[in-house]
Amino acid sequence: MYEQASHSLLNDVLIALKPEIKYQKLQHFYTRLGANFYAIHSLFSSLYGDRPDFKKQMLHLVETLARQYIKRPAYLKKLDLAREKDHNWFLSQQWVAMALYCDGFSGDLKGMPSKLHYLQDLGVNLVHIMPICDCPEGKSDGGYAVRDFRNIDHRFGTLKDLDELVDHLRKRGMLLTLDVVVNHTSDEHEWAQKARQGDKTFQDYYFTFDDRQIPDMYEESMPEVFPETAPGNFTWDAEMGKWVMTVFNSYQWDLNYRNPAVFIEMLDIILFWANRGVDILRLDAVAFLWKKMGSTCQNEREAHQILQLMKDCCQVTAPGVLFIAEAIVAPTEIIKYFGEDAINAKECEIAYNATYMALLWEAVATRKATLLNKGIRSIPEKLERATWLNYVRCHDDIGWGFSDADIVAAGYDPQLHRRFLVDYFTGNYEGSHAMGLAFGENGKTGDARISGSLAALASLESALNENDADAIDASIKVILLLHSMILSFGGIPLLYYGDAIGTLNDDSYLSDESKSNDNRWVHRPKMDWNKAARRAQPGTVEYRIFSAIKKMISVRKEISAFADRNNRELLSVDNEHLFVFSRFDQGLSHSRVVVVGNFDAEPQFLDILSMQRMGFFQYDTVKDLHTGETFSLLDGNIVIPALSFYWFQT
Ligand code: GLC
Repeated sequence: MYEQASHSLLNDVLIALKPEIKYQKLQHFYTRLGANFYAIHSLFSSLYGDRPDFKKQMLHLVETLARQYIKRPAYLKKLDLAREKDHNWFLSQQWVAMALYCDGFSGDLKGMPSKLHYLQDLGVNLVHIMPICDCPEGKSDGGYAVRDFRNIDHRFGTLKDLDELVDHLRKRGMLLTLDVVVNHTSDEHEWAQKARQGDKTFQDYYFTFDDRQIPDMYEESMPEVFPETAPGNFTWDAEMGKWVMTVFNSYQWDLNYRNPAVFIEMLDIILFWANRGVDILRLDAVAFLWKKMGSTCQNEREAHQILQLMKDCCQVTAPGVLFIAEAIVAPTEIIKYFGEDAINAKECEIAYNATYMALLWEAVATRKATLLNKGIRSIPEKLERATWLNYVRCHDDIGWGFSDADIVAAGYDPQLHRRFLVDYFTGNYEGSHAMGLAFGENGKTGDARISGSLAALASLESALNENDADAIDASIKVILLLHSMILSFGGIPLLYYGDAIGTLNDDSYLSDESKSNDNRWVHRPKMDWNKAARRAQPGTVEYRIFSAIKKMISVRKEISAFADRNNRELLSVDNEHLFVFSRFDQGLSHSRVVVVGNFDAEPQFLDILSMQRMGFFQYDTVKDLHTGETFSLLDGNIVIPALSFYWFQT
């Protein structure tokens, strides 16, 4: 694409703008549009350039951007300017996030302001409220089957309640993340209803087929996401008399991004939420955005182009807003969702570090950091203006998505090792007391994932059931060790509500017909506020977990080396139980931290000489930043207690 073609098209588009847009004072909008237009035009034409109505669609796109810019509240426009100046603001170690269901956490949105002090007590300053858009009751996939993208589900409250919450959050210096479910809609969404009634325009919003011929061809290469409950990727809709693509549940219709109208509609929705004061938008299931026959229909090049286009457009209207990519895919694929280039081909600033999460759990099961050490090294370097969401648990299941080659290199057989992990976390392995549940078992491939609360998977639940003090100690150590890893690794740590007080599995979903076949609900609990109150009583499990995590968070915030500037070095030590890496700050403070985690149930030695050879531990003593303890280095070794960690200042 020649720039001049873009310039000329931009001029044509600006001339054709509707008078109500043209005669507004939109200085910042035009500066940004001018700067991004070449990229927007190139991407839009690569996706939709062969359509006869391309120019009309382009105009429609620019009008959408301008209209939302005009609606953008003044205080957000001011914030945009400030964030543009300080564009790496989100890489700071100051940010600590938590994901929560608003009904589970506080009943509804109105109830949230009175619970925010709990988050602040812990040190959390970024809240991801799980999806709150209007969904059909019983067919909601936990909020991911949206019926109305611009309205809040009455069970959670109203747009006004959200506005009030945004105001509370701002006053407390907290950020808000909300979801935009970009890949699919509920079958009760207005577009789906119209498609069902035979409206061709809206049938084109989805993938609809008269017979099985094409669906069968797609099926040859498409995996199944929910093989037990929603096998196959197409659903017959009797009323429409057509098959429709439904990659997730049968009531979630996949959107057809080959149609530019779909792209523009979804962009408009993204900007709608940006204008409500959302700081970060979590774009759901982005790996699935482009479907191509003969492929897995995941991670396609066009899916990346769509995200790049969304980003370029959002930067014109709401540049202060960031995107999280929810792409739970192989490490070499995840990295691509940051974009290929921070200027020309940027995508989402933030992505879930599902690989790290799964590797941490693997280390818990094996008590070794062998695969963790290998798997982390296989994650390619990311862009500088990009960061991870590092998490231990979230609302979804745990999949064993690390690479087979790494499993082999760590000395295991991939299939057997994945089976071992499922057995371990479901408590079906000798010596395991984990209480997870197998999720998404696939009879054809033998794959399975794991559901369960952190406390259940870390064996705290079984230890409490048996009233076994030693086992309780050990499981609390595991919980803290895992948190120490996500808080120090580099990226935004994402805690999960309930975990800081040791919330157990919640079986109540079994008596709800709409949930009982999806055991992810076992770890989507109602917050027990009486239990939460015990975080202030020394000696209780709640206190032991909460106060230790709180301490870690406050220490993290003080250490500039913990900001994410691609400033991590993985260190190889001669002990298979230890995971060791350094974090450094190349700025003024020149601070350096060596993080050591021992995944074994026995104490392990860290060999000082080898650390010194790598340039660390040059003095006689070293201090652990978390406990403040000082260690002598004269013995040649430091003992890392069982299931423990240190953050050494060095
Ligand atoms: C994402 C969500 C998951 C949901 C799926 C389909 O992966 O995290 O909970 O089931 O998308 O929307």
